[in-house]
Amino acid sequence: MPSLNTRSLLLPAALLSVLAAATPAPSPYPDPNPDPISPRHPEITPSAVEYHPTRTYRHRRDLGDVFSDVESGVNSVLSDLGNLPSYVASGIAPFFQDYPDSSAVQSSLSLSDSEVAALPTQVLNIDPYANYTSQGWNVRFHGNVYKQPDISNDTLNDLANVFLPDVDIEDLPQSQADQARNLTASIFVLQQGDVNVSTINLEPAPMQGSSGEDGGGGAVTPSGGSQQVTLPYPTTDQGDFDVFVPIDGAGLMNGNETQQIQRLNTHVEGASIGNSTAYLVPNEGITIVSDIDDILRVTKIYEPEKGLLNSFARAFRPWMNMPEIYANWSSSLPDMHFHYLTTTPEQVTRTYMQFIYSTYPGGSFDTRPLNFSNWQETLHVRKFLLEKVLQTFPNRKFILVADTSNSDVMSAYPEMAVKYPDQVQCIWLRNTSATDPGDRFPYDTSGFENLKQEKYMFFTVPNDLTNLDVENGECYNKSIKQNVTFSYQGLPFGLGDDSAAALVKAQTGLMFAVFLGTLVWNLM
Ligand SMILES: *[C@@H]1O[C@H](CO)[C@@H](O)[C@H](O)[C@H]1NC(C)=O
Ligand SMILES: *[C@@H]1O[C@H](CO)[C@@H](O)[C@H](O)[C@H]1NC(C)=O
Ligand SMILES: *[C@@H]1O[C@H](CO)[C@@H](O)[C@H](O)[C@H]1NC(C)=O
Ligand SMILES: *[C@@H]1O[C@H](CO)[C@@H](O)[C@H](O)[C@H]1NC(C)=O
Ligand SMILES: *[C@@H]1O[C@H](CO)[C@@H](O)[C@H](O)[C@H]1NC(C)=O
Ligand SMILES: *[C@@H]1O[C@H](CO)[C@@H](O)[C@H](O)[C@H]1NC(C)=O
Ligand SMILES: *[C@@H]1O[C@H](CO)[C@@H](O)[C@H](O)[C@H]1NC(C)=O
Ligand SMILES: *[C@@H]1O[C@H](CO)[C@@H](O)[C@H](O)[C@H]1NC(C)=O
Ligand SMILES: *[C@@H]1O[C@H](CO)[C@@H](O)[C@H](O)[C@H]1NC(C)=O
Ligand SMILES: *[C@@H]1O[C@H](CO)[C@@H](O)[C@H](O)[C@H]1NC(C)=O
Ligand SMILES: *[C@@H]1O[C@H](CO)[C@@H](O)[C@H](O)[C@H]1NC(C)=O
Repeated sequence: MPSLNTRSLLLPAALLSVLAAATPAPSPYPDPNPDPISPRHPEITPSAVEYHPTRTYRHRRDLGDVFSDVESGVNSVLSDLGNLPSYVASGIAPFFQDYPDSSAVQSSLSLSDSEVAALPTQVLNIDPYANYTSQGWNVRFHGNVYKQPDISNDTLNDLANVFLPDVDIEDLPQSQADQARNLTASIFVLQQGDVNVSTINLEPAPMQGSSGEDGGGGAVTPSGGSQQVTLPYPTTDQGDFDVFVPIDGAGLMNGNETQQIQRLNTHVEGASIGNSTAYLVPNEGITIVSDIDDILRVTKIYEPEKGLLNSFARAFRPWMNMPEIYANWSSSLPDMHFHYLTTTPEQVTRTYMQFIYSTYPGGSFDTRPLNFSNWQETLHVRKFLLEKVLQTFPNRKFILVADTSNSDVMSAYPEMAVKYPDQVQCIWLRNTSATDPGDRFPYDTSGFENLKQEKYMFFTVPNDLTNLDVENGECYNKSIKQNVTFSYQGLPFGLGDDSAAALVKAQTGLMFAVFLGTLVWNLM
């Protein structure tokens, strides 16, 4: 078994010297309780003078092109204070960026083409939704075709350790070490471009769907719908597919004549784990579009070290009694459609789906397609996916749910409410800093300035969402105090102006970016 070049793995000294050279303040990384913002307090000066370009580039040759891209991005951020830098403003989990592509994986494992050819093909078939047109139902199949190379546990341990800066995987409890290896393996895959997904079998889904989810709203089992479909295009270079496919409506209720969601199991022939449930969503009704991290599960993305452990090693756990709230809607409003839309990368979708389907009502899913890879594209993915679902169901009402720690949410959600006023009925945002002092990430509420209070609510605990007449559009629980300034909020130390916010974010983002660069660097 060829091994990865592990010599360069885990070079905290090199990493830290890059960090130290590129930021005015010492790196928070060696600190066991890193707080990316507070240690910088006395140094916060919105000036590029503190930036030392000559030192920043010291490691350029070692780090390779990817790393220098990160550096030049950071460079432009630091020389452009006052404007909010785009990629660091994303609030997207920084450790979920810049994964290796299949040629990097293949060459780092020294696999020959014939060795790759001998591996079985796997399909990630992400639970789709379908809309109804005058031609009938159209299922949006999306997912990825890949091969999973056989990587030894030792190598997986080394790779997983890159994601876990302060712990060694061997010191974790067995179940956490297993999950960390599982997730790491799902990132180091060989994506299969230009292949045909030729046979997808559809059949009525019995009660809980083949993926075994509990809940699942009041979706019904149709009397027909069994058939085979072929995707019209081969996969993209990165192995992705995402296409609406018309299906035969025999035995299915028309989407203009029912409010009930119908479920079909979908199974990609030849792929042992390529099963999912398709949700046939009628033209009219309510769809809840829900983010996952820090709203449905405890992630603490805003505390990088905890975010890493919570994402890579610890079992996913729900946020407070949020499952009860969703379960109540699922049973009392049985026609509600649940759509889970997270910008977590596609490679880790299975872990998210497993958690959701064992904790929350069944529903369709969107994660970040692989062609949204760099920081700028990643920033736009949420809006892209939101518009796709809004345009697919122009006559449904939408409730958008997330938390304040994602800046792409803070801009995209209110933007959707302005652009699709008849569709977006409600925006609910958990004020993360209200219950979690560890969230020191500032958030921008300016997007809400032109929205009526009845359309949105910043809330603190899941119970704030109880007893609302959701069906009739009630979004705002009047007993929940709102304190929206329509500008940056949550800045530390009473900082108020935008350039201070930009600097805080630039530095935090830099730390994330540099840390992240190691993964790709190690594969070069
Ligand atoms: C629903 O759509 C089908 C197909 O376009 C059409 O034949 C049918 O009349 C429609 N039903 C209603 C109630 O509009
Ligand atoms: C790798 O670890 C898993 C989980 O601990 C174990 O089931 C498996 O047998 C190990 N594989 C090898 C090749 O040791
Ligand atoms: C790891 O993956 C295997 C195979 O997909 C799965 O059976 C197992 O439950 C996973 N373990 C953890 C801890 O995620
Ligand atoms: C995929 O299917 C198309 C149309 O059937 C065919 O022309 C093409 O050769 C197939 N590609 C592969 C890689 O099999
Ligand atoms: C996937 O679906 C097929 C067809 O219904 C079934 O035979 C198979 O057992 C399912 N696989 C899993 C892992 O559920
Ligand atoms: C990714 O691919 C989809 C088509 O599946 C396309 O609509 C989208 O614009 C692409 N995004 C980027 C950033 O290339
Ligand atoms: C169905 O979805 C497609 C793709 O988003 C969209 O172009 C089309 O307008 C939708 N059809 C209806 C009737 O809403
Ligand atoms: C969020 O909670 C914090 C802490 O309680 C509070 O200072 C802030 O004003 C709240 N934000 C909003 C938008 O209500
Ligand atoms: C509003 O929030 C309070 C406190 O969380 C909760 O007890 C109540 O049920 C909520 N709903 C309404 C309509 O007041
Ligand atoms: C459960 O949901 C229904 C429908 O939205 C709502 O009327 C009811 O108040 C909810 N119950 C609780 C405890 O939130
Ligand atoms: C309201 O928000 C402002 C700005 O974020 C903050 O300074 C103030 O402490 C907040 N007030 C309360 C009562 O949370």
